[in-house]
Amino acid sequence: MRWSLAFSAFVASGSAQLVTDLTGSGWTLRSQNGSISIPASVPSQQYIDLYKAHVIGDPLYGLNNTEQSWVPLQNWTYTSRALTDLQLTGALSSTYLVFQGLDTFAHITLCNQVVGDTDNMFRQYIFDVSSILHSCGHTTPQLSINFGSAVNITHALSAGPDADPDDNFADSCSTTSSEFSCKPYARKEQSDFGWDWAPSLVPAGPWQPIFAVQMTPGQVHVNNALIDIYRKEQQNNLPSDQGMPWVFNASLDFVGSLPGVQIGMSLSLADANGKHVLTQALGGITQSPGTITGSTSIAPAAVQLWWPNGMGAQTLYTATVSVTGLLGVPITSVTKSVGFRTIVLNLSPVSDTELAAGVAPGAHWHFEVNGQPFYAKGANFIPPDPLWPRVNATKVEQLFALAQASHMNMFRVWASGAYLPDWVYDAADRTGILLWSEFQFSDAEYPNSTHYLQNYEAEAYYNARRVNHHPSLALWAGGNELEAIILAFFFSADQPGALQKQYEQIFLGVLPKCVYANSRSVSYIPSSTYHGWLKLDFDSEMPQIPRYLNTSGPDALYADTDAYNYDANTLFDITSYPIGRFADEFGFHSMPSSLTWATAAPPEDLYYPSETVINHNRHTPFGATGDADALSLAGIAEMTAAVEMYLPVPGKKDGAANFTAWCWSTQVVQADDIAHQIAFYRRGSGMRERQMGALYWMFNDLWAAPTWAAVESTNRQKVLYYAAKDIFSPVIVNAYYNTSGRTSDLQIWVTSDLFAPVSGIVSYSWVNYAGGAITVGTLSTGNISVSVGAVNATHVTALHYVDLSSTLAGSGVDAKDALLQLSVSAKAGDTTYTHSAVFHPATLAQAALRDPGLALTKPKVPTSNSAAGSTYTFTVSAPKAVAAWVWLDVSTNAVTGYWTENGFWLKEGESRSMVFTVWEDWSKGKWVDGVNARSVWDNTLP
Ligand SMILES: *[C@@H]1O[C@H](CO)[C@@H](O)[C@H](O)[C@H]1NC(C)=O
Ligand SMILES: *[C@@H]1O[C@H](CO)[C@@H](O)[C@H](O)[C@H]1NC(C)=O
Ligand SMILES: *[C@@H]1O[C@H](CO)[C@@H](O)[C@H](O)[C@H]1NC(C)=O
Ligand SMILES: *[C@@H]1O[C@H](CO)[C@@H](O)[C@H](O)[C@H]1NC(C)=O
Ligand SMILES: *[C@@H]1O[C@H](CO)[C@@H](O)[C@H](O)[C@H]1NC(C)=O
Repeated sequence: MRWSLAFSAFVASGSAQLVTDLTGSGWTLRSQNGSISIPASVPSQQYIDLYKAHVIGDPLYGLNNTEQSWVPLQNWTYTSRALTDLQLTGALSSTYLVFQGLDTFAHITLCNQVVGDTDNMFRQYIFDVSSILHSCGHTTPQLSINFGSAVNITHALSAGPDADPDDNFADSCSTTSSEFSCKPYARKEQSDFGWDWAPSLVPAGPWQPIFAVQMTPGQVHVNNALIDIYRKEQQNNLPSDQGMPWVFNASLDFVGSLPGVQIGMSLSLADANGKHVLTQALGGITQSPGTITGSTSIAPAAVQLWWPNGMGAQTLYTATVSVTGLLGVPITSVTKSVGFRTIVLNLSPVSDTELAAGVAPGAHWHFEVNGQPFYAKGANFIPPDPLWPRVNATKVEQLFALAQASHMNMFRVWASGAYLPDWVYDAADRTGILLWSEFQFSDAEYPNSTHYLQNYEAEAYYNARRVNHHPSLALWAGGNELEAIILAFFFSADQPGALQKQYEQIFLGVLPKCVYANSRSVSYIPSSTYHGWLKLDFDSEMPQIPRYLNTSGPDALYADTDAYNYDANTLFDITSYPIGRFADEFGFHSMPSSLTWATAAPPEDLYYPSETVINHNRHTPFGATGDADALSLAGIAEMTAAVEMYLPVPGKKDGAANFTAWCWSTQVVQADDIAHQIAFYRRGSGMRERQMGALYWMFNDLWAAPTWAAVESTNRQKVLYYAAKDIFSPVIVNAYYNTSGRTSDLQIWVTSDLFAPVSGIVSYSWVNYAGGAITVGTLSTGNISVSVGAVNATHVTALHYVDLSSTLAGSGVDAKDALLQLSVSAKAGDTTYTHSAVFHPATLAQAALRDPGLALTKPKVPTSNSAAGSTYTFTVSAPKAVAAWVWLDVSTNAVTGYWTENGFWLKEGESRSMVFTVWEDWSKGKWVDGVNARSVWDNTLP
């Protein structure tokens, strides 16, 4: 469905052209020796059609991913039906084939004549096939695309003339048993070859639509459109003057030719209800072969701003850009959804005023939207499926709805998937999720022969133009973890090595050129993470002079952070978390739920760790050795160790129940750890580091596997999703206890990312797990007033215990039976914000947990029914004792949806209502009966 939507944008250009959609069925897929020949469709990839035709099983099921490793070692040919609907004679004398995406090494023929070869899945390819078609003679044209084995071709390339003379970064062409190697030699989704959360399938095929455009001379067909909306005088990477008028710049790419004279362009803008806002002529029209560009100025008062989620409305407009000829005769037009906002990644130096106010020296690392610095809250987004043609709007819209419902405002679209299709950006525009977008380069040295450089440039140029109109586009980054590699392994300030030069050539040369040539509205950085620039000079060959290690001193801060820690001992040790300006990656792995496992493994494989679990786990500890199974088990052991350290260990007699309890327990530890880190980073907004972002790794999953994800491949949510939602609340209270630092004070802070100051009351009380009040030192309960500035954090109090364990002991309190309950209630204007948190000195593995006697009240009927989905309200209470990590489990795959909250603590006697919004229900409401409530206490039950 989504493809035809995308497609309609292209056929909108009116006049008498014939556009033949070659998407859909009627294709044939053949293996290289012809032994397999099956019906196929477009867009597709070989695995999808092989699975549909029952040649292979579900590639994501069981051990299939490994057993099917023969698939990517074959060439696969897609052949169309007989194209009887093409006009072979008559007025439509020119014919173009438009390929929106070919994955990847494709040899294309039409009527057995060569059309061309392609080697970049991220580019749009257009071929003029007019003469081939004319010479088809009496044969009905048929299109055939041979996809060479990317595994074999990358191996050959790595040894060919374009190979790196000094290919000294091991990952470029190394092989491990679970990953195919040489991926940097293919302009193809890098995680296709395997990643530490992905299978290595290496799909091949026409993964995006194909169509034929037939025209008469003098007609044009628009194949891409750039729209850039920015404030007059705005420069990339620099804050802009919010009082300036908007500049609306439109640049259309087309095939065919425009008449030579009297070409005009105009803009017509309508609001979301279709109401006409303005019509203006574009001026300053310039033309180059295949492109026409013009711009106009829009008064600030004529339009409303677009804001990210939580900061204001996501106001969108429909912009129609028309090209006209003599006497205003329409020639072509394009329509795009647009928004008016400025967004900048501000990396400018910390000012003297800020230094005087206590901000650490160095440079900023924060985003500003419409001139307003904000705290970025979100996660990293990976491909929703290893096979992109299967990804549908339903799945993606659910992911964005989950992000929107959990106080997020940003996804970092990680660098080694694919550039997101427009319809995914549309979902982001509507939900207010900013997309920090990356070019597809990650963790490797990339070849820099002339051919590769040209290929990168064409890819970056096309995609930068394609998505620039989306207000959700927040940033372009050259790639993932690239500067860190350069800095860690190859940096020599006096004698920059060949690898550094190569990095600069691509990431500080080719890619920023493509962004800056097309956009004034978006910032560019060469790499996530990045130490920032020393200088910006847009007239230079290298517009950003990177800082690298050129810092002013050890206390100066310049960069964002990317840090992982798998040592169970230190998961909650705040001194082990990095201090930087922005955290763009941090995470810990966990199991998906047993119900998601059940979609990918037979019942007899649902134990810990079965063959399927071992096979699907791709995280192995750094430096570990051994065979694939041993490596996987070592990775899984990190999760097991963390559960054993922090929770009562499940030991249920029933195997299935035990597996479920184990899966959930790994999720609780993950959630606790990552929420703790988020709270720490957010508190940094009020500390010397002026920390301004927390994007955890990772939001979503592409198969059932132990990974860092918060949302499983089925879109079921892990505990982390809810814990992150809670700690991303605008105003939060949290306790920070530094066991290994100079002080063992228990610090209580309130953090707010609101644009206005808030003030209110923080309450705390010490209790035992039965819920009874206790006194620790001289303190039992208290209320403290607090005020927090805009996007800031305030130290509320330090509960002074010279040493918490001896204070507990001295007060006659058993550390295992003590719990500090915290809450804040604060107002900004008329709105009240509340949040609560707990701190427990002993781990839940040691804690004197009691049976909370959880009671669950289930709804008899839906609370509401609407197009957005029915909602059901459940109430859970803990009448007998404190309940840790209360979890309502929907115990069937026959319903999908999400909760308003889950995975929370209940005080003794407390009850809470939670709403479940149904996406789809195949159980006719019966799922309600199966919902059960559990807490960490249940781990202690047999
Ligand atoms: C492959 O997938 C099918 C389901 O499509 C399953 O029945 C089969 O057992 C799987 N094979 C392996 C080896 O896991
Ligand atoms: C790819 O290489 C493998 C051996 O590594 C070989 O068996 C296979 O036939 C090759 N595929 C093609 C299309 O050449
Ligand atoms: C496989 O495809 C590649 C790339 O098009 C081609 O060079 C090679 O000859 C093909 N091999 C076979 C066996 O078809
Ligand atoms: C969308 O994809 C999901 C799998 O990701 C599938 O379960 C669902 O049926 C699909 N929906 C539609 C409408 O095709
Ligand atoms: C690729 O990088 C190397 C190392 O810096 C350099 O010597 C070479 O000229 C570059 N290649 C091209 C085509 O620019």
